[in-house]
Amino acid sequence: MSSSRRKFLRNVALGSGALATGLPAIAGESEALVEKAIAGKPGTFNMCGYAAPRISTVRVAFIGLGNRGMGAVKRMSFIEGVEIKALCDKRPVQIEKAQKILTDMGIPKAKEYTGENGWKALCESKDIDLVYIVTPWHLHTPMAVYAMKQGKHAASEVPIAVTVEECWELVETSEKTKKHCMMLENCCYDFFELLTLNMTRNGLFGEIVHVEGAYIHDLLKQNFEKNSYSDMWRLHSNIGHDGNLYPTHGLGPIAQCLDINRGDKMDHMVSMSSGDFMMNALAKEKASTDSFYNQYIDKPYRGNMNTSMIKTSKGKTMMIQHDVTSPRPYSRIHLLSGTKGFACKYPGPERIAFGHEWIKPEELKGLYDKYTPEIVKHVGEIAKKVGGHGGMDFMMDWRLIDCLRNGLPLDQDVYDAASWSAVGPLSEKSVAKKSQTVEIPDFTRGNWKSNKPVNLTLEGGGTTTVRPVPSEHKE
Ligand SMILES: NC(=O)c1ccc[n+]([C@@H]2O[C@H](COP(=O)([O-])OP(=O)(O)OC[C@H]3O[C@@H](n4cnc5c(N)ncnc54)[C@H](O)[C@@H]3O)[C@@H](O)[C@H]2O)c1
Repeated sequence: MSSSRRKFLRNVALGSGALATGLPAIAGESEALVEKAIAGKPGTFNMCGYAAPRISTVRVAFIGLGNRGMGAVKRMSFIEGVEIKALCDKRPVQIEKAQKILTDMGIPKAKEYTGENGWKALCESKDIDLVYIVTPWHLHTPMAVYAMKQGKHAASEVPIAVTVEECWELVETSEKTKKHCMMLENCCYDFFELLTLNMTRNGLFGEIVHVEGAYIHDLLKQNFEKNSYSDMWRLHSNIGHDGNLYPTHGLGPIAQCLDINRGDKMDHMVSMSSGDFMMNALAKEKASTDSFYNQYIDKPYRGNMNTSMIKTSKGKTMMIQHDVTSPRPYSRIHLLSGTKGFACKYPGPERIAFGHEWIKPEELKGLYDKYTPEIVKHVGEIAKKVGGHGGMDFMMDWRLIDCLRNGLPLDQDVYDAASWSAVGPLSEKSVAKKSQTVEIPDFTRGNWKSNKPVNLTLEGGGTTTVRPVPSEHKE
């Protein structure tokens, strides 16, 4: 089915513009039919396990040089076999700052692209292999799709898509162009997550029955802060969208443990949101001393806590939460409950059990010694020095480049990107219908039954080296 046809069906189901305005979706009689139609046509090419031709020096271009983008440029500048060819931000001052990162590292300055649409010329440029996207959410899919259509691999920050249509557009474009489309889900590369993934693979938890993940981060004040990010895009995203706006940090690592899209798939979900008890209150408080905030009073803010439940085709359950307003410690939960064992990362300390009692710290150390995957042994220490959330960001970047240089499939493919991101808009849809069940599209179109699980070895790769990290280096 063409994407315009899907768009049409989708608009029938939601009421045109329903998500954009935050109005409740219209649950039409044809819903079941629409969901079935959304499942799409048989794929033309399976990108899971796809190995693109080797690229000995990966020429990288960055779009979006804000808080996160600047860190990405810095991390990438440590990787040998990378040339940072282009830098793009609509704010020229950000490009200047990023150029300084390059010159401080003693590497050549990159070509500059700016303006609202400068990114298009960047994608069209002939001397780029990988477009690395670090802009606000609504720009991720248009930029990734355009990059692939211009013959570039695309990597995008999370979530890579904000509608189900966008998810399909990414899948169809990646399959058609045979270009990688990776969502940069860095939490899949955190140390305990990788340990427990390898333990899962080795059967230590038995059959995993239930998993939990979350993005719980006290960002309330930060999201209302005028100059801490560009154009107030984060606050705007919290208005008119009631659901789990940022599902992938919690979902990615537990989905990998369940071999989602590679042996199992997410089948259907329900979602429930609390009301808003904090955002409108803060808008009013801030408006009392600064009229800039008048525009944020009495807006349809998302519920502060969203809880979603997903059932997989093989009968496993997944619980995902989102709360970026409450004053509470950070948590992604990362809980795995199996027939033989249990693991939980947050609230800390990291814990594992094989029965009533938590195992002792020395036993946990023994598990780390035995089950730490190869990537961590190979670049874990240097990743901690380069940094990025304690090292996971660098491990992700390094692995992406190493796979491209050695012609290996990427750890996260377009089906992972699409299905993990789709949980966002689907949660909104369920919330709008009083938590009714919604189907989760099978973006693999049946290939989940035979797709191979994520490779936990460095087989065929591990050849990419890293520049020395100066002792004075800061993340
Ligand atoms: N994976 C993680 O741990 C993590 C952490 C932080 C942020 N992020 C993600 O990174 C992305 C960026 O977040 P941020 O905090 O850096 O936001 P930011 O507002 O600081 O940066 C966004 C940048 O994009 C630029 N931009 C906007 N429109 C543009 C356009 N048309 N062309 C070129 N540049 C444009 C802005 O000028 C700005 O510099 C988001 O998707 C966010 O979710 C991920």
